[in-house]
Formats: sequence, structure tokens, C-alpha cells
Amino acid sequence: MYDVNKNRQKWRIRHNALSKYSYLSKDKILEVFAGWGNMTKYWSQIAGQVISNEKDLSKLGFVLPENVKTLNLDYRDNHIIELCKNIEIIDCDAFGLIMDYVKELCEMSNTNKLIFFTDGIKKRSKVLKKINIEKYFNNYNYDDIYYEQCTMGNVFYGYIFKRKIYEL
Ligand SMILES: C[S@@+](CC[C@H](N)C(=O)[O-])C[C@H]1O[C@@H](n2cnc3c(N)ncnc32)[C@H](O)[C@@H]1O
Repeated sequence: MYDVNKNRQKWRIRHNALSKYSYLSKDKILEVFAGWGNMTKYWSQIAGQVISNEKDLSKLGFVLPENVKTLNLDYRDNHIIELCKNIEIIDCDAFGLIMDYVKELCEMSNTNKLIFFTDGIKKRSKVLKKINIEKYFNNYNYDDIYYEQCTMGNVFYGYIFKRKIYEL
């Protein structure tokens, strides 16, 4: 269903980020767009619990490991937003213009936030409006960002990290 090279690239990006930010809590990891479960398999080996959300749960056809809990909600549902507040590692592997959503989640700074994304900038927008990842995060106060082009296409995979803000 999904290209194995793309998955390998996404797994590598996640693995490298987790090595860099090894202190982040892995008790619960939230996957907002679980799709066919390719990232779910990866997260289930790392997290205490994976919460995997997908609007079309029929895609998650394999037998899920015991530490995976599924949700069947729209990504904008309040329950997802509430969960995001207290989870440090969030996976947003979706095509479509979700970068504003990624920013919104980062702003929930009551915890550190390491958010994986797929840029989802439509080719047409890239060409006509010259939208790119720099433009999305221009003037945005994050602590770290990493992305690379998909080895097989025009899409970018990456992550953004924003540290918890401690109030004095
Ligand atoms: C790129 S796929 C995810 C692939 C998945 N990470 C994997 O590796 O198998 C994006 C998924 O987002 C789901 N999706 C699209 N719109 C959604 C929405 N509004 N709320 C929740 N899920 C949505 C789609 O059904 C699709 O399965």
C-alpha cells in the first residue's frame, strides 16, 4: 500500500530525532494520521502507549500491538487537541496543508513538543505561490527544525522541536 523506501526514510528521520531528543517522554506518543499503520509499527516498539488516530480506520488492517489504542476522529476534534497538550512526541504524517496545525500544536508549550510532519504543500502552491517550508516557519520561534526531500518525490519529511516554556 505504501512505498517501503518512503517508510524507511520516515523511520530514519524519526530514529535520528529520537536519538537527539532522547530525554523526551515516550510514555505516550500520539499519531494523528495513522493511515496504513506504517509509523504505528515503528512507534509501538518505542512508546509505552501509542494513540493512533485515523479518520478511515479500515486502513489499519493488521493486528495492532497491545500498546496501540486507536481513535477515529477528525484531526481537529477537541479530544485530539486536548491529548496534544500533554504529549511530547506527535506524528503528523499527512499530505495536505497541515503546517498551521503543526504550529498550533507547538504552541501548546506546557510540554516540550517534537512534531514530525510531511510538508503536504501541493505542487501547484509550490510553483504558483512559491510556498516552501521556510516560508511556513518564517518568523516562527521554534528551537529546531529539520527536513529533507522525499527520495522519490516532491514532498518534504521532517520535524520541528519547541522547548517547554517555563514561567517564572
Ligand atoms: C499520508 S497518510 C498517513 C500514512 C501513515 N502515517 C502511514 O505511514 O501509514 C494520511 C492519512 O490521514 C488521514 N486523514 C485525512 N484527513 C484526515 C482528517 N481530517 N482527520 C484525520 N485523519 C485524516 C487519511 O485517511 C490518511 O490515511
